[in-house]
Amino acid sequence: MTTPKLAPIDQDLLQRLTNGPTVLQQMWLSGYLYALASQSEVAVLPQSIQQSQAPSELPDPPVITVLYGSQTGNSKKAAQKAVASLQTQGWKTNLADLNDYPTRQLKSEKRILLVVSTQGEGEPPASAEEFYQWLMSNRAPRLEGLEFAVCALGDKSYLKFCQTGKDFDARLEALGARRLSARVDCDVDFEAPVEAWIQQLLKDLPVPASAASKSVALQYVDTAKSNGHFQEKQSQYDRKSPFQAALLAKTPLNGRGSKKETWHLEFSLEGSNLSYQPGDALGIYPQNPPALVKEVLYAAMLNGHKLVTYNGREMPFRQVLLKEVELSVLTKEMLENYAAWTNNARIKAILADPTALKTFLYGRNVADLLREFPAALSEETLLQFLRKMPPRLYSIASSPEVYPDEVHLTVAAVRYLFNDRAHAGAASTFLADRVEADDKVPVFVAQNEYVKLPENDQTDIIMVGPGTGV
Ligand SMILES: Cc1cc2nc3c(=O)[nH]c(=O)nc-3n(C[C@H](O)[C@H](O)[C@H](O)COP(=O)(O)O)c2cc1C
Repeated sequence: MTTPKLAPIDQDLLQRLTNGPTVLQQMWLSGYLYALASQSEVAVLPQSIQQSQAPSELPDPPVITVLYGSQTGNSKKAAQKAVASLQTQGWKTNLADLNDYPTRQLKSEKRILLVVSTQGEGEPPASAEEFYQWLMSNRAPRLEGLEFAVCALGDKSYLKFCQTGKDFDARLEALGARRLSARVDCDVDFEAPVEAWIQQLLKDLPVPASAASKSVALQYVDTAKSNGHFQEKQSQYDRKSPFQAALLAKTPLNGRGSKKETWHLEFSLEGSNLSYQPGDALGIYPQNPPALVKEVLYAAMLNGHKLVTYNGREMPFRQVLLKEVELSVLTKEMLENYAAWTNNARIKAILADPTALKTFLYGRNVADLLREFPAALSEETLLQFLRKMPPRLYSIASSPEVYPDEVHLTVAAVRYLFNDRAHAGAASTFLADRVEADDKVPVFVAQNEYVKLPENDQTDIIMVGPGTGV
């Protein structure tokens, strides 16, 4: 190692600094000068010092910045997964929440990965809103020096599926950045497509020199600023493996004659180790209304008793329709698959016109589709078109400090007429009509990092309560 050579220091100045001031003043001066020096750019250091800190035989691993925009933590989990995989391949990573990421930094990045969900009707999560607006605006710089890949999280029951990820992907390309890997759009079961995205990315990225020369097992460090709320909890129960929560009590909240139908529900979380904070949501896996199952069987002229295999398990077809698949919401993907299979020109025309598609999907369920566009299909064929039952998220309406081991919800029953037929929301009427005290309901806690009470309970807050309406 070469010893850094310093330019000669003015001896008079040194004498005055060491003899004049008191010991305390000298200590203060040394701290002051150190702070001043550390604000200077590294580039002003003599080259010999820079070289001694970056020996050529041990190059720094290349850096990838992994950014996430998340509402309930799914995108953050996916981003953390990417970070862990990249680190084992020898990449140095910088994980950041878009909420905290300074926009001006983007210009100096070499490679970024962006994992982002879509909220509202095709909008970015609140935490990514500012970054999104900036990137879409004319303030965004040219990004020719940047390489990127986007993983989009969403839900196929929304018409604007993964819209925010799509917007980011297109915008980064338009600004001149180079796409490392194709964007992956993930439905509610996001784990497998996220893993596929990471694996593809690892193939598309160059192998870092440090990994090629020696095996690296860097420890994963989350450098993102966060209140830590997304950190994995102790509970073994989650979205993939929900807890069977017993219903403790159920009370109608509306007076006689009210046009509303709102329920207060109390569930036991005892033994689950599940914990939550105000602002979090409870995910529920509902069962479809039996009347809707009957309508589907009738419309498609299928046999509910027939044994079918679904997800590797054999069970009566009616059971699958009741518990395993989405029936009360029609999705664009289902319509696409049904149009392709039936080769129906009218459905294809609806799909080709975004306004007609939006109108068609609004309020219709699977039975409506089968009635309006009948086709001779088997039980197995119908199952190919249907989407796995996604959970419904309800804002939690209790505080664990007041009700430890319990979680309460306020749920408005969704019932409406469509083409003179009664229609019902699957989860809200499941809770309102088909669950009684002591019945078990599969639940999990969906955390929300961004809607939290201030830690200091002296802080003034304004509370706005949109939602159920009692
Ligand atoms: C109120 C709300 C609105 C949503 N809107 C959309 C949407 O327009 N398009 C979409 O693809 N997904 C939508 N989603 C689904 C989320 O993107 C999906 O649940 C995702 O996994 C959430 O990831 P996150 O926890 O990182 O935010 C919405 C979810 C909620 C709760």
